[in-house]
Amino acid sequence: MRDFTYYVPTEILFGRGAEADTAKEIRKFGGSRVLVVTGGGSVERSGLLARIEQGLKEAGLAYEVFRGAKPNPRLSHAREGVRRALEMRADLILAVGGGSAIDTAKGIAHGAANPDTDIWDFWCGNAPLTRSMPVGVVLTISAAGSETSNSAVLTNEENGQKRGLGHDLNRPAFAIMDPELTMTLPAYQVACGVVDIMMHTLDRYFNPVWDNDLTDGIAEALLRTVIQNGRRAAADKTDYHAMSELMWCGSVSHNGLTGLGGKQDFAPHQLGHELSSRFDVAHGASLSTVWGAWAETCLQAGPARFARLGREVWGLREEDDLAAARAAIRATVDYFRELGMPTCFSELGVGVQDEATLCEMADCVTYHGARTIGSFRVMGREEILAAYRLAN
Ligand code: NZQ
Ligand code: ZN
Repeated sequence: MRDFTYYVPTEILFGRGAEADTAKEIRKFGGSRVLVVTGGGSVERSGLLARIEQGLKEAGLAYEVFRGAKPNPRLSHAREGVRRALEMRADLILAVGGGSAIDTAKGIAHGAANPDTDIWDFWCGNAPLTRSMPVGVVLTISAAGSETSNSAVLTNEENGQKRGLGHDLNRPAFAIMDPELTMTLPAYQVACGVVDIMMHTLDRYFNPVWDNDLTDGIAEALLRTVIQNGRRAAADKTDYHAMSELMWCGSVSHNGLTGLGGKQDFAPHQLGHELSSRFDVAHGASLSTVWGAWAETCLQAGPARFARLGREVWGLREEDDLAAARAAIRATVDYFRELGMPTCFSELGVGVQDEATLCEMADCVTYHGARTIGSFRVMGREEILAAYRLAN
């Protein structure tokens, strides 16, 4: 087991009607002037935003609503949010929505606490992030895990880069998680979420450290839970049991627990981010598109690991490791198909790409030669290109 620090300070209020305590939580974390960050309108349509606003008014909190965080949230929009937060002298940023609203809120919190620094400099490592502002979350989709994660992902539309920032200051102060709020989701978004939740654990499970008994056991239990309840949620998104299991798995999958003591890989996420920034596709769909190709490309780095996934998660009985490994990859990709998720470029709806585009994509993933990705198998330009060719 490798050494680790586990720091997950977010207070979680989980269950039916938990959002009624939003104003109380804001006060608890010192908020009195709140910038409320939302996405493209789902929280208005569901009536959630009106309920939150009513609660803020009754509690005597000053607030403004900042709308318009898009899926694959844009840097320019977060910068605009920083200006709004500074103008209203916000002291707490409240995201009401999914990963896109939450990551925008995180960016705004960093920017408003550091008005002399352009926030992209934090994402690029050009400026150290040493202080921020509290972020609260009312979650409406089980997927990105941003409600407790140490990460925030923004897309810089000027250079087409979609980049994550990993930092403890990204952990929200509190997260309100009412599974009933996810029952208005379109089926496609439920499926995207299931894939993303699985991938946050798979991207940790596949790593070069294989003697983490508890961590691996937790990862396998989480994957079995998501697979089973993903099926139930796909059949009926008003199934409270399924939606609550998915919501809790979404947080646990990305708060670090399922990878403790290991060396996380996250290569599929990096391959997917390039698809999202280039074609503006949903994050979960980008991941199901590349995972099978990533697995084929990396299989020889550890057939026994794939075989263990097959036996412990998919219940496979093959004794030969390579046969079990191949069957595990098939089972995972088949499950994505069963959910209606894309498993190659044409199913993603972006068409077959020519070789020059694939090369350009591989170059972008390596930041033009400045980095490799992954740890299970370290991938440079050639391995990345091989994976994209397989997914094409
Ligand atoms: O924008 P609105 O109108 O709210 O609609 C959203 C959006 O269209 C809709 N939606 C959300 N809750 C709903 C709902 N529709 C009806 N009823 C509800 N209850 O669903 C769509 C997707 O929303 P979004 O916030 O984009 O989803 P998600 O939570 O999947 O977030 C995706 C973003 O998070 C990033 C992704 O890359 C992507 O940019 N990630 C963030 C991570 C993190 N911060 O730790 C880790 C992840 O790996 C991921 O990269
Ligand atoms: Zn993800």
